[in-house]
Amino acid sequence: MLTKKMEKALNDQINAEFFSAFLYLSMSAYFTRKNLPGFAHWMNIQYQEESAHAMLFFNYVNERGGKAELKAIEKPDLEWKDSIKVFEAVLKHEQKVTALINNLVDISILEKDHATNNKLQWFVAEQVEEEANASEILEQLKIVEGKGQGLLLLDRELKTRVFVNPLTQAI
Ligand code: FEO
Repeated sequence: MLTKKMEKALNDQINAEFFSAFLYLSMSAYFTRKNLPGFAHWMNIQYQEESAHAMLFFNYVNERGGKAELKAIEKPDLEWKDSIKVFEAVLKHEQKVTALINNLVDISILEKDHATNNKLQWFVAEQVEEEANASEILEQLKIVEGKGQGLLLLDRELKTRVFVNPLTQAI
């Protein structure tokens, strides 16, 4: 059984993950408008991953006999100045999500909820990867100054990303 405090924090995270999905879908549309299909594809996979993260939390709350509460999802940004600004926003967002996950871990410790703590460890590792991926692409964009042939080469590379469903991978 989840404590009320743990249940509320997990429900907040369901909403945060769905917001992440919305944010990346909005970024995907931005890149489509900029004629960068590889970046749009990468963002679309990011959207699918975040939706799966939300479902992992949703399923977990249900599994523990909690009340999964779906809340209104905040409207994401629609425009960015350029691709470097988009990836700066991605990295900043993922750093914020890492802080949210860390806070959930803190609550699970305070609540002595070992099962939730165990579940969260997958997300702790996932956030290391999320930040590393965003940071790598951001740095590569900076190398090519977000334009020209370098940008098109990066776009082709990002087109090759394959979706691995966290719902079938996690824990
Ligand atoms: Fe669900 Fe990008 O962390």
